[in-house]
Amino acid sequence: MIKALVFDAYGTLFDVHSVGKECNEVFPSKGDAISQSWRKKQLEYFFLRQLMQRYKPFDDITKDALNYACKENGAELSKENEKRLMDAYLKLDLFEEVETVLQQLSQKKLVVFSNGSKNMIDPLVEQSNIQLSIDLVISADEIKQYKPTPAAYNHALEKLELKREEILFMSSNPWDITGAKSFGFHTAWINRKDLVYEELNIQPDTVYSDLSGIMEWIEKT
Ligand code: LAC
Repeated sequence: MIKALVFDAYGTLFDVHSVGKECNEVFPSKGDAISQSWRKKQLEYFFLRQLMQRYKPFDDITKDALNYACKENGAELSKENEKRLMDAYLKLDLFEEVETVLQQLSQKKLVVFSNGSKNMIDPLVEQSNIQLSIDLVISADEIKQYKPTPAAYNHALEKLELKREEILFMSSNPWDITGAKSFGFHTAWINRKDLVYEELNIQPDTVYSDLSGIMEWIEKT
């Protein structure tokens, strides 16, 4: 029986590209390109740092990725605008169905499990409209091992004190849902961008275009 619903944060509950608005205000006409490059490099940097065993917390990685994205787009990033854009990352938009779906799941334990450092993910959840729905926020920074390492998912499992099969994990990020499935969680890939799935021979249990699809999991468990 599913006892906890565990959600990835960036890209799954929160739209990382909603920061593009602020990027466009700071760098008119370059904001969308900077936002795309920013997220791409943010992912690359935590993957690479995990592989090189040179861990840095997500806030530092996000700042490094922002600096790269601005340089790549010929945009001069002042310390003031670096702070402005990093602060915008603490106020990302929720995807439109998230608040309503989470409110319908109140009888389950609702958990956010993110690579985000606590000083990023906690304020992001606290300032959002899902704060009262979320029972627990778990950060990979607590063990300094990023998803998709097994150690990261095991950390979430230990904090929840449940069995793997009692957890339904949801993410829009293919690398994340693959890691969670590989670890042994039930998985629902929230395929918001209608992507083709990765060729990693590890399939998610279910695929939905947004979070509303998970209601069928609740009805059958
Ligand atoms: C998260 C993003 C990085 O862990 O997927 O919230």
